[in-house]
Amino acid sequence: MLTPVEWTGTQLRMLDQRVLPGEETWLPLNTPEEVADAIRDMVVRGAPAIGISAAFGLTLAAQQVTGESVEAFDAHLRAKSKILNDSRPTAVNLGWALERLQALATRLRAAGQDNVGITQALEKESRRIYEEDLAACKAMGRCGSPFVPDGSTVLTHSNAGGLATAGYGTALGVIRGAHDDGKKVRVLADETRPFLQGARLTAYELMHDGIDTVLITDNMAGSLMQRGEIDLVVVGSDRIAANGDVANKIGTYSVAVLARAHKIPFYVAAPTSTVDLNCPDGSQIPIEQRDPAEVTSMGGKRIAPEGVGVLNPAFDVTPADLVDAIVTEQGVARAPYGPALAKLVAQAVAERGE
Ligand code: MRU
Repeated sequence: MLTPVEWTGTQLRMLDQRVLPGEETWLPLNTPEEVADAIRDMVVRGAPAIGISAAFGLTLAAQQVTGESVEAFDAHLRAKSKILNDSRPTAVNLGWALERLQALATRLRAAGQDNVGITQALEKESRRIYEEDLAACKAMGRCGSPFVPDGSTVLTHSNAGGLATAGYGTALGVIRGAHDDGKKVRVLADETRPFLQGARLTAYELMHDGIDTVLITDNMAGSLMQRGEIDLVVVGSDRIAANGDVANKIGTYSVAVLARAHKIPFYVAAPTSTVDLNCPDGSQIPIEQRDPAEVTSMGGKRIAPEGVGVLNPAFDVTPADLVDAIVTEQGVARAPYGPALAKLVAQAVAERGE
């Protein structure tokens, strides 16, 4: 099974997603700064994978300073946590994982734990976040499989697969769940301009698993829906607001509007770690603006005239009323999403014993 990161105990190894599928290169990362840069540069991407990477990045930070004073150790952790947290703004899993580790460190310090003990606990918690995410993806596969009829064609946008998680995936986890249940599923993968997560990553990992995959450009989805060639849409998310508004890769909103216009169900699959109950609605979700060069160039070659103005928001927000269901590892949320999401998050928190 594909996984984007491997933890050796003292080093985080990352599959460089910028060069997939042409090259499978694993990069060794030894410092929190290297991990933050790798997240910013999208060596690793996808909300849960970013959170997992940040957790191991903070573990590396702790390992750097076990011999320091308690004050220096605690200040170092806070500073490196900020560097990691600032690497990308939209995926809430990043802050969620870091806050989970920080809260643990604070609790242990208050209980008199020394630097070595806290460092070991942070490493264990990071491994736990990784394992929990893998289990969550498998659970989403089981919960979401009933939405995917045998013989259906599913449209997905971006890459919400094994490469974006600990493994198995969220949206692609639902598709894998149906596939593992013995259903025949055909996937249409939007290429996902400008970073091409669909063309490069979704196509790569579904073909790796022997799932029937057809690549389309983003502007083909409407016409294919009009011709009755798409049965349902499943996407992932970077942050789901408390009211069910969903931030995901730019272009997701257009797909949701098209799906509603053609009466095609539109589903979101995401772990409860992607639900931000502190964010009341989608207007409060920070949207990352990325380098114009991602839009003006393709494969390192400039395609637009020098000096042209460029917009490059990396995410958009799909209003909750365009979403037919949200599949989480704790079960399926349906409108009204406010109480449904709050209940599923509370279940996850109780399960972790927090
Ligand atoms: O910019 P990216 O590649 O990090 O964006 C990723 C997505 O939009 C995914 O759909 C989302 O993070 C869900 S990943 C399971």
